[in-house]
Amino acid sequence: MTATTERPALPHWETKPEDVAAATREIKAALRERIAASGRTVDEVFGALEARIAAKVEAIKADKAAGQEVWPIIDFADIAAGTVPAELAAKVKERGCAVIRGTFPHEQALQWDQDIVDYVDRNGFFEKYTGPADDFFASVASKPEIYPIYWSAPQMEARQSPRMAAVQSFLNSQWTHTSEGVQWFDPDRDSLYPDRIRRRPPGTDSAGLGTHLDTGSIDLFLTEGYQQAFRHVFDGTVEAYDPWDAAHRTTAVNYPASTMCSAFRTFQGWTALSDMGHDQGVLHTVPIPEAMAYLLMRPLLDDVPEDELCGVEWNRTFPIGWKWHGLLMEAVSGIPDVRAGDTVWWHCDMIHSVASVADQVGWGNVMYIPAAPWCERNERYSVGVREAFETGSSPADFPEEHYERDWEGRFQPEHLNSIGRRGLGLE
Ligand SMILES: [Fe+2]
Repeated sequence: MTATTERPALPHWETKPEDVAAATREIKAALRERIAASGRTVDEVFGALEARIAAKVEAIKADKAAGQEVWPIIDFADIAAGTVPAELAAKVKERGCAVIRGTFPHEQALQWDQDIVDYVDRNGFFEKYTGPADDFFASVASKPEIYPIYWSAPQMEARQSPRMAAVQSFLNSQWTHTSEGVQWFDPDRDSLYPDRIRRRPPGTDSAGLGTHLDTGSIDLFLTEGYQQAFRHVFDGTVEAYDPWDAAHRTTAVNYPASTMCSAFRTFQGWTALSDMGHDQGVLHTVPIPEAMAYLLMRPLLDDVPEDELCGVEWNRTFPIGWKWHGLLMEAVSGIPDVRAGDTVWWHCDMIHSVASVADQVGWGNVMYIPAAPWCERNERYSVGVREAFETGSSPADFPEEHYERDWEGRFQPEHLNSIGRRGLGLE
């Protein structure tokens, strides 16, 4: 069979199909046909992808064996001065993750941690707390580790800080944000995606969180937007798949689900509010951005039941494990030791987990602050964010807990700077 530019169109479902198993059978057959139209079989294309990823897995193992950090580590001062060495920036693209040392001064981050304690204490949070309102972090103990708090002064100060903005611009600029005559996002304007806080006390025993993906679930296969974003994975030209190509990413839409993130994030991230050892139940990733192509193609192989997508289900986080993704699991790599004020970032498609810990040494405190650049999708979400900000409510992507509505000391609109106002769409 010779290669042809004609590719059969894919069926797509812009709302969640009633019969997911039937849609799964239909899309898998269509994807196989479309890939085969490239002139190679699914097995051949997947084999080529597997070889590309296997080389990356070996490089990661070699770094570990040589005692080198797998995660790129960048000094904030280099970002501020525009002097990040080219090979280090290249490493960020290779590994899809980074630690930015000293994004905030150590003392500042420790003060923020204390300010958060004061804020929740003063407002009687622990007396009012009624337990986790979603099952996403249900493994945590009854005393919260994840605080459903969004509008403290430290969180907003960090979100609208010029230092944070500089880091986000640097990370966003690793992406191709303009193509096909479209600017898919603005790399220099963030949308202040409000997320929660984690404070995990010394002595904690935690099972951690299993290896998973946050990008979406069955919608990654079934919706037109994601089919376009992953067009090279789905048409037999997987060698051309570029995880840093933003085309169609910011117009794709997920099926509503409790696990979904409405915003487009170039990177997920958090700001450390305590010093944390690398062996104290910290974040791990599979630092291979192209692994997404593997996750999307793996269900097309013959050993997966026809109505299954390797365990991917609507309204559940996308699972990754030894059963279907053994090659990827070999590359799981943790962050190095971090200090309060460092920030930790990972590409939005990156497989990640949180390691277990027994009798944790020191605190494990973070503010979740991603890079969610201004784009059509984030502008849409910002309408609800503005309202949540003004009323102290929980943002739409999160359970309706609304603890902070009448809290004293909440961050107020008059303290917004220009970055904050732009991020909220107020100027
Ligand atoms: Fe996650």
